[in-house]
Amino acid sequence: MAHYLVTGGAGFIGSHVTELLLKEGHRVRVLDNFSTGKHENIPKGAELFHGDMRHLEEIRPAFEGIDGVFHLAAMPRVPYSIQFPIETNENNVTGTLNVFVAARDAKVKRVVYSASSSAYGNQPRAPYTPDMKPNPLNPYAIQKYVGELYATQFFKLFNLPTVSLRYFNVYGPRMANEGAYVTVIAIFMRQKKAGEPLTIDGDGSQARDFTHVHDVARANYLAMTSEKAGHGEVINIGGGEKPHSVKDIADIIGGPVAYREPRKGDPALTWADLTLTKELIGWEPQIKFGEGLRTLLRENGIEPAS
Ligand SMILES: NC(=O)c1ccc[n+]([C@@H]2O[C@H](COP(=O)([O-])OP(=O)(O)OC[C@H]3O[C@@H](n4cnc5c(N)ncnc54)[C@H](O)[C@@H]3O)[C@@H](O)[C@H]2O)c1
Repeated sequence: MAHYLVTGGAGFIGSHVTELLLKEGHRVRVLDNFSTGKHENIPKGAELFHGDMRHLEEIRPAFEGIDGVFHLAAMPRVPYSIQFPIETNENNVTGTLNVFVAARDAKVKRVVYSASSSAYGNQPRAPYTPDMKPNPLNPYAIQKYVGELYATQFFKLFNLPTVSLRYFNVYGPRMANEGAYVTVIAIFMRQKKAGEPLTIDGDGSQARDFTHVHDVARANYLAMTSEKAGHGEVINIGGGEKPHSVKDIADIIGGPVAYREPRKGDPALTWADLTLTKELIGWEPQIKFGEGLRTLLRENGIEPAS
């Protein structure tokens, strides 16, 4: 049994990582400041360390006796980062650097960093491989990318084993359904329930690689335990299918749609190549998007139109 720390464990993805670790028989401590996280998200059996990663000395005690850190805490909001680049930088960059410093000083054996496919921005070809030149289109994307650079550098400079996982649009139970940045699926579900038209930004042809949160949680566990990884690598975590357009998702949900101006800082496509991921951590997604989406819709009382 290992003792793991999950930063952001009161959030959407972090709560699923925590749940999986507990199920695997490990001890789990959650570090969170509840800026977007919720107490009720934290699975029973996890310890709670209420702290803010922007303050290094405040969070150091959370790392004592910890074998591995899953670093998910962040302010994951694109439009908010455009409006408030300094506040989001303090959380996503300074906070992340503090996590690496605290982990290094506490002699943690590995840190798995939640990176983002937003580092790719738009690329000349797809699917995207981690060796492509990053092209962040907004402050959030820059901030998440800087976290990767620190992850790799902390391995090279200080021998702190790290792995960065670039998630592609994560969806599933407990995903955010309010606030400045919610995924298109959550927005559509809210609109459908309220009897409103589904709002499509631009022409709806923008396509996304969607990944189920249970698959993402499993990827985190494998990234922590795989012997081949831990040398500052950056790998993709995607859904393993051709991307789905926003219009396609609206069709599955069904009902009237309303078109709006395209959103600033939004890429036209996200699509993960998973070759390196499979090689390094032996992970492949298990949940097909059509199945995962329809299950999520039904869990939320929505009968899919197709
Ligand atoms: N959801 C996605 O589709 C997606 C895609 C790519 C990457 N990611 C990354 O995955 C991670 C988790 O995302 P999520 O969707 O679960 O977001 P979330 O907002 O649900 O969870 C983030 C958690 O971090 C906590 N937090 C924020 N700032 C903090 C601070 N200063 N100190 C301590 N805790 C703090 C929040 O309270 C929250 O519980 C983030 O790092 C995000 O950038 C998410």
